[in-house]
Amino acid sequence: MSYLEIKDLQTHFTQRTGTFFSPGKHVVRAVDGVTLNLEKGEILGLVGESGCGKSTFSRTIMQLIASTSGTVILDGENLSNLPPAEVRRRRLDFQMVFQDPYASLNPRMTIFSTLAEAVRQRHPQLKGDALFSRVETLMATVGLDAKVMRKYPHEFSGGQRQRIAIARALAPEPKLIIADEPVSALDVSIQSQILNLIKKLQKELDLTMIFISHDLGVVHYIADRIAVMYKGKIVESGPAGEVFHNPQADYTKRLLASIPKLAAV
Ligand SMILES: Nc1ncnc2c1ncn2[C@@H]1O[C@H](COP(=O)(O)OP(=O)(O)OP(=O)(O)O)[C@@H](O)[C@H]1O
Ligand SMILES: [Mg+2]
Repeated sequence: MSYLEIKDLQTHFTQRTGTFFSPGKHVVRAVDGVTLNLEKGEILGLVGESGCGKSTFSRTIMQLIASTSGTVILDGENLSNLPPAEVRRRRLDFQMVFQDPYASLNPRMTIFSTLAEAVRQRHPQLKGDALFSRVETLMATVGLDAKVMRKYPHEFSGGQRQRIAIARALAPEPKLIIADEPVSALDVSIQSQILNLIKKLQKELDLTMIFISHDLGVVHYIADRIAVMYKGKIVESGPAGEVFHNPQADYTKRLLASIPKLAAV
């Protein structure tokens, strides 16, 4: 049994089309029958062009959007069948890191408050010195000086904000992290620092991870295995080196050809 088992997952959206007098409906099959397994401690890179369904897929796994059909089984437990309160409890085990750390951090909360709140999701009783020292440790884990914990998100650079967002994701001690384009908004030089940090943390904490990017080069750098998504379906998957150096699907070959040569990390 794999740690995460996704079976024939479908997430469709119905969009209204036409006019008031002749209304119509159009169904977008954002996730269209995805079957994937993830072993514990593995990084799966999910790659595909904008609009192919990557974010919808991750939000469906997190149970933030209801699937149309299919199942998500995490550590033997079928998440699709759980009542909402139980999903909230389980969600502590799987956290997300988003593309835009500024939008995902509360601008009115200091770094300390943001991280303390996230720590207390798992340990509601923690306070005082114990809470402070846990936040200090988290900051050190992502390479931030504890002296800056009373500052607000706008006082940091993009790379530092992404470090804070990563610390926040780690605070509830998750087992699975879904990182949705976590480096796409960063300068290339900062991208590699954050990629290296994610790689290091994944190893140290034995995290299972889905790392999403539209850039096959970035995914090859970080992932053990790559799944290529096109129009809601997985068109190719396999060990990262094989998919990158010997792609089988025409779509993967096109993705590979589109990587700017200087962007290699
Ligand atoms: N809430 C929604 N309602 C209707 N359609 C949606 C909704 N969310 C996403 N879609 C559609 O589903 C498809 C997949 O979108 P999604 O955001 O998952 O793609 P993506 O691969 O993450 O793209 P990007 O790389 O730009 O982030 C798109 O056609 C999008 O327009
Ligand atoms: Mg997206």
